[in-house]
Amino acid sequence: MIIHWLSSIDSTNSEALRRLAQLPSGSVLAAYDQTAGRGQRGNSWFTEPGKNLTFSIVLKNLPLKASEGIRLNYLASVALVDFLDAKGVKAHIKWPNDIYVSGKKISGMLIENTLGPDGRVAASVIGIGLNVNQKEFPQLALATSLTLCTGREYALEASLEEFLAVFEGLLPQLSAGELMGRYASRLFRSGVSARYHDLLTDEEYEGVIEGVEDDGRLRIRDLGGRTRLYRFKEVSYLL
Ligand code: BTN
Repeated sequence: MIIHWLSSIDSTNSEALRRLAQLPSGSVLAAYDQTAGRGQRGNSWFTEPGKNLTFSIVLKNLPLKASEGIRLNYLASVALVDFLDAKGVKAHIKWPNDIYVSGKKISGMLIENTLGPDGRVAASVIGIGLNVNQKEFPQLALATSLTLCTGREYALEASLEEFLAVFEGLLPQLSAGELMGRYASRLFRSGVSARYHDLLTDEEYEGVIEGVEDDGRLRIRDLGGRTRLYRFKEVSYLL
């Protein structure tokens, strides 16, 4: 993978999409300062300049149909969890792809795919924000960073290279089923009883996260024994 470090950019995802035609597969755009980072659901992604990793990985010619694009989320999520494991930090994936440590978010991702005329994923921009050396999060009560977890400081460049080595090592599994199993095994609240708000029926209930379907839907079994399946924005986690 070839890393291009940018001193300042609005959003590495936006820049990768603008330069998509010129960037070969395996290119990575990383920014020391991201001034208009984009998050999920149209949110912004705030990060202190020079403290954290904000980067986008460009992949092309993937063996994925549009409906299989969800596997990129599994890949990036498992790579983040494995990378953090290697640092001694036990993280979980809050479905669909937020990475949490002890109830606080350490990393988020925004994956933007373009589809080819054959309906396959022609290119994917996998944008990842990983909190590394930031110690205070004024806008976010429930955020954490690698340094807050371990008390150590990390070189951003070396950390990105380490993460990308983990990510690249998992790439051959993109088409294999075991990636989904590894993702499911690290889901936040997996196998434990907790409360959820079903946004489809406006019902609050207690249930257990059992895993994910092939299409990425979250599977929760409620205490009445009924299996409920959710797409993004159809369920929220209650405390
Ligand atoms: C989220 O949890 O809401 C997703 C956050 C994704 C942030 C990353 S930082 C690098 C890349 N560029 C962006 O503008 N967003 C992603």
